[in-house]
Amino acid sequence: MRPILSDAALDTLFRQARSYNRWRDEPVSDVTIEALYELLKWGPTSANCQPGRFLFLKSRQAKERLRPHLMEGNVEKAMTAPVVTIIAYDTRFYERLAELFPHKPEARDWFAKDPRVAEETAFRNSTLQGAYLIMAARALGLDCGPMSGFDNAGVDREFFPEGDVKSNFLCALGYGSEELLFPRGPRLGFAEACRIL
Ligand SMILES: Cc1cc2nc3c(=O)[nH]c(=O)nc-3n(C[C@H](O)[C@H](O)[C@H](O)COP(=O)(O)O)c2cc1C
Repeated sequence: MRPILSDAALDTLFRQARSYNRWRDEPVSDVTIEALYELLKWGPTSANCQPGRFLFLKSRQAKERLRPHLMEGNVEKAMTAPVVTIIAYDTRFYERLAELFPHKPEARDWFAKDPRVAEETAFRNSTLQGAYLIMAARALGLDCGPMSGFDNAGVDREFFPEGDVKSNFLCALGYGSEELLFPRGPRLGFAEACRIL
């Protein structure tokens, strides 16, 4: 087996990358945020549906709007992060499919006629896009602090009052500080988590 990426790159993306909750006092530029989206957007989604919507909270005022909806334990790690991303999904993502998946003109109706399938597809694929965001951020030298401890309904009322977009999870972005980082948790071994049939 010969990996295409170097050991150093694999360390950056996976083996040495941690989830951070303390941050160095170093801002993240808008150019970096845009570069991040320009990478993550290439990750695959079913029928190329791209339901993910990304709100990057960078200003103090924007983060203050998030504060009341955070679980107590997440307040400091979110409020001190240079950026907090709300990874959300457009529940009406299928309205863009004629443009995004043009070789199957009937694709819109697979979802438009079945709200359960539409919701499941939007949630699954926006979660994937959130994972692409984490990996893209690491590839660009950023650190991540993903969080699901918050009140989704409250965040949706505050940031997506039109009702079409719903929050999935949050991801703080910045340059992590090792301070208060607990030792890395073990991962399940191959034999525990996998089977080859
Ligand atoms: C979707 C998701 C939600 C998470 N939610 C929280 C959270 O609300 N608060 C928190 O402190 N950590 C949260 N974490 C961080 C995890 O505990 C962390 O990623 C895991 O323990 C692995 O840590 P490591 O990357 O440092 O090895 C979350 C991680 C993910 C991927």
